[in-house]
Amino acid sequence: MIVVKSRSGKPLRVEGFRIRIFEKLSLPPISERLKAIREAGWNTFLLKADSVFLDMLTDSGVNAMSDRQLAAMITAQDAYAGGRSFYELASVVEELMGFKYVIPVHQGRAAEHLISKVFVREGSVVPMNYHFTTTKAHIELAGGEILEIPIKEALDRRSRHPFKGDIDIAKLEEAFREFKGRIPFVRVEAVANLLGGQPVSMANIRGVRELCDKHSVPLVIDASMIDWNVYFIKEREPGYGSKSLRDILGEFLSHADIVYMSSRKAPSVRGGLIATNSREFYEKLVVHLPVYEGFLTYGGMSVKEIAAMAVGLTEMVDESLIGSELELINYVVEELDRKGVPVVLPPGGLGVHLDSLEFLPHIPRASYPAGSLASALYLVSGIRSMERGALSMDRDKYGREIYPDLELVRIAFPRRTYLRSHADYLIDRVLWLYEHREHVKGLRWLYEPPILRFFLGRLEDMGGWGENLAEVYRRELGEY
Ligand code: F0G
Repeated sequence: MIVVKSRSGKPLRVEGFRIRIFEKLSLPPISERLKAIREAGWNTFLLKADSVFLDMLTDSGVNAMSDRQLAAMITAQDAYAGGRSFYELASVVEELMGFKYVIPVHQGRAAEHLISKVFVREGSVVPMNYHFTTTKAHIELAGGEILEIPIKEALDRRSRHPFKGDIDIAKLEEAFREFKGRIPFVRVEAVANLLGGQPVSMANIRGVRELCDKHSVPLVIDASMIDWNVYFIKEREPGYGSKSLRDILGEFLSHADIVYMSSRKAPSVRGGLIATNSREFYEKLVVHLPVYEGFLTYGGMSVKEIAAMAVGLTEMVDESLIGSELELINYVVEELDRKGVPVVLPPGGLGVHLDSLEFLPHIPRASYPAGSLASALYLVSGIRSMERGALSMDRDKYGREIYPDLELVRIAFPRRTYLRSHADYLIDRVLWLYEHREHVKGLRWLYEPPILRFFLGRLEDMGGWGENLAEVYRRELGEY
């Protein structure tokens, strides 16, 4: 954002870009939305994008790209080995992020696969601020387990702690004692996704680094949403307000032994990377690249995306381009909070997060209130959000449900994609749904996959509540 002083003396934030390519949207009537969500097994992942009005499922791979990124895609050099675009990427990673070695991978979970394969063993314990679904899956597939140790405020949706993504340092110290010899690395997710898009402070990453040094354990940073984390440090952390985003990024990442990212997020392309300064770690990781991803100068990515990634990484710290969607998230969260809707506070990155346990207290957890809420929101608005609760966890090895700390619905704001009127529409429909929440009931499985079940699982609305909710909507608001 371009920040100037307004007439009233308050900061005025203005987007430092304009839109030159747009995509037409259409809003299907509620009868079609009911049909679509039924056909999708009440799982928003299985909706066809053409049935969706505002696609707020994720920020992954759907951010608006810049004119400079598109231009770079045209001049990318297509070579199986040794392509120029890769070396351009490598030099940006070195200059901007401070790492000598870079390994391209096809997306974030591919990085998690390689890191878990190399570092995690049977009996390993990986402490982290919080898990992401694919991270947990890869660590467990490699025989390890995760240990989540966020600060206690992180699990209180009302707490306005500015850095709810911080690790509890005392618990980390304890973990080093308790699991001595079993910790292959500590993982910090910069902007903790499943905590509601909450950032990690510089003070915290520094503290984690000191402990890792003391115990000679590597620190791995998941930098998929590092752009937002850096922005929040500048906005919220004392001493950082006058530093550049670029300097803050460099300082934050300087604490990592290994950084990986889904480049579908912050750099707004489709790909991923792993970076390190350790020759030993690089060599251990890179030998697996040709087996699982591709040759070391493309790693399973299109070279066009590699070229666009180099540009996207530099745009991540362009002060005038960052923060537009954060302003919209802030606006929606504060507005919904004022009206009494249970949202995760303070406004963070990634999206607006509804607390489904408070929103739908009449639905037992075994009937998936967050899944119900995500599908009900689609039904009454055409907005596609994502369940981030019990459905997004898999059962334990005895077949029991694992209930996560937070049972959320995430309404994501991809970068530079939606406008203020979309935010107003979202607020209006969430408020309508909140006022009619008694009509929303639970979901039950029709088909439950054994792993990452939220992607492909199909459910049904218990007692056919969808039809009833659609009827009430039609009576009050009409077909649209
Ligand atoms: N780490 C974090 C913090 C993520 O948010 C994601 C993906 C990944 C790793 C995996 O990366 O999708 O490129 O394989 N998050 C997406 C989301 C899917 O919607 O939040 P990937």
